[in-house]
Amino acid sequence: MKRELYIGMLSGTSMDAVDCALVSFNNGVPVVHDFESFEIPQPLKTMVSSLIRNETADLKTYGTADILVGRLFAESALTMMQKHNLAPEDITAIGSHGQTIWHQPVADMHNSRFTIQIGDPNTIAHMTKVTTVADFRRHDMAAGGQGAPLAPAFHQAIFGKSSSARLILNLGGIANITVLSPSHAIGFGYDTGPANTLLDQWIRHSNGQEFDEDGGWAKSGKVNALLLDLMLDEPYFLLPHPKSTGRELFNLSWLQTKLTLLPEPCKPEDVQATLLELSALTIAQQITNHLTAGEILVCGGGIHNRVLMERLTGLLSGFRIASTNQYGLNPDSVEAVAFAWFSQQTMLGLPIDFSPYTGACKPVIAGGIYQV
Ligand SMILES: Nc1ncnc2c1ncn2[C@@H]1O[C@H](COP(=O)(O)OP(=O)(O)O)[C@@H](O)[C@H]1O
Ligand SMILES: [Mg+2]
Repeated sequence: MKRELYIGMLSGTSMDAVDCALVSFNNGVPVVHDFESFEIPQPLKTMVSSLIRNETADLKTYGTADILVGRLFAESALTMMQKHNLAPEDITAIGSHGQTIWHQPVADMHNSRFTIQIGDPNTIAHMTKVTTVADFRRHDMAAGGQGAPLAPAFHQAIFGKSSSARLILNLGGIANITVLSPSHAIGFGYDTGPANTLLDQWIRHSNGQEFDEDGGWAKSGKVNALLLDLMLDEPYFLLPHPKSTGRELFNLSWLQTKLTLLPEPCKPEDVQATLLELSALTIAQQITNHLTAGEILVCGGGIHNRVLMERLTGLLSGFRIASTNQYGLNPDSVEAVAFAWFSQQTMLGLPIDFSPYTGACKPVIAGGIYQV
């Protein structure tokens, strides 16, 4: 039988890169042939950030960014294909998540819930000549789900066959956990809150750096207990799951509101140290609400933040903490591989059961198919 190849792609909350995985599946087990992160040009980052901040952006910016992100994804897929001498007909489908610019999973006064990902899939299908699956979240939302997090369905399918308690921790811009405990016939999972996003936003705002390499700047500061308490007061942390969140909530103005409540100014590096503590504490608290021991497999860019990992290891001393690498998946590639898998399920006409993680009323076919 011919080996079927898929390309999974996404740019996450952090907007640090377009992650691109070339994958085939061997009896449902992903075989990753290559993984590469492609740079997002700074002007495009700036344009997309203005949409995410929802301050000065207009519909023209939205339309333009949709096409530019689509082109960037298409070029990333084409580079991957050229590197491996692959023709369009060698790839069964591209699964493209695109870039989230707004995620509103809870109803507003119009009783409306929505999520918007940009990166026009028509452009991707046209430029690559490969069938493209995209718009993965909105069918789940239409079925009453939060449309996020979706990765837990993949974690369950790939890492779920464990005889002991196991949990997947994804440290992206936002942290999400998937509990794959033998006591739960099917796992559950949700966004715990920030992992890297506030750390990234604060260092960018303060020092102009894209991220806090190894957590070094956070390490140079001291945790401000009052600021930490103010931040822990955020109602999101106490909401029952299913729940999902993003930069619509955890952003600079959220942080600045807390900072103005302090009786005296806090040094920038102390803010960073406190933000790291906030991420570590909220993640560890949520995990220990469900399990007290077992195995935690970590993925996402936060695994490279040594100080964050040390703090998590300290707070979760009852657990064995390892990288998904231990089970053959590069921790940076997991989400891109997940979108390759989702696109395969969609091409096969198979619904995916996101309901334990999103609260949808039923499994759904995830995404639309954009043919060449
Ligand atoms: N060496 C590192 N030190 C500290 N943080 C890192 C390092 N490498 C990556 N990161 C963090 O990981 C983030 C990207 O993680 P990723 O899983 O791609 O998140 P997302 O899914 O939101 O894009 C970066 O923005 C950065 O905060
Ligand atoms: Mg990323």
